[in-house]
Amino acid sequence: MTSDLHISAVSREKRARVEPIIDQSFNGLYRWHARRILRSVQWVTEAVHVDARVGVAMFTLLGKRSAYVYYLAVVPSQRAKGIGGMLLDDALNLLLESGALEVFACVRTDNIPSLRLIQSRDFVRTGFRELVASKGFAPAAKLWMQMVVAPGEKVFRKVVRP
Ligand SMILES: CC(C)(COP(=O)(O)OP(=O)(O)OC[C@H]1O[C@@H](n2cnc3c(N)ncnc32)[C@H](O)[C@@H]1OP(=O)(O)O)[C@@H](O)C(=O)NCCC(=O)NCCS
Repeated sequence: MTSDLHISAVSREKRARVEPIIDQSFNGLYRWHARRILRSVQWVTEAVHVDARVGVAMFTLLGKRSAYVYYLAVVPSQRAKGIGGMLLDDALNLLLESGALEVFACVRTDNIPSLRLIQSRDFVRTGFRELVASKGFAPAAKLWMQMVVAPGEKVFRKVVRP
């Protein structure tokens, strides 16, 4: 499956076409927020297998050197086949090429597939205190607010350019 998979950016005018993936992947507030982010976020990429859209990633630079992966979603019938990992690898490459030194992602620790996915890409748990210690209070607070960390979510960080 993954050898026939194509990942490409989705222009702003065409983003509505990945909404069905979001609707199959999120409920409630997360669905509402993912649909909202879909329209405004810097990059949306889609994974296409043959003619079917099977996955989506939404990510952005937050400032010049930090980046954030808002959402990754794969249609339920195609999960656990490596598509989420390919979407994440593609996003990390694009962010690295765009100047990011570090990439953040928020994950609910009860979301095992999501947790396994980011841990397989060497994301490491961090927290507000660690960010304050490394960046200072104001930059850390700004970053934290931009990520919109929801209750129950933990923040993970990956250094993409040491
Ligand atoms: C999270 C998600 C994007 C992962 O996509 P995927 O295509 O299934 O991911 P992959 O096949 O690349 O697998 C990634 C890792 O998760 C593991 N995994 C996948 N499904 C799993 C499951 N149901 N239970 C346990 N582990 C699972 C894989 O084994 C792999 O880990 P490994 O590299 O250590 O072997 C997908 O499950 C999804 O769309 N979930 C709903 C939306 C969501 O919660 N998104 C994340 C928050 S934004």
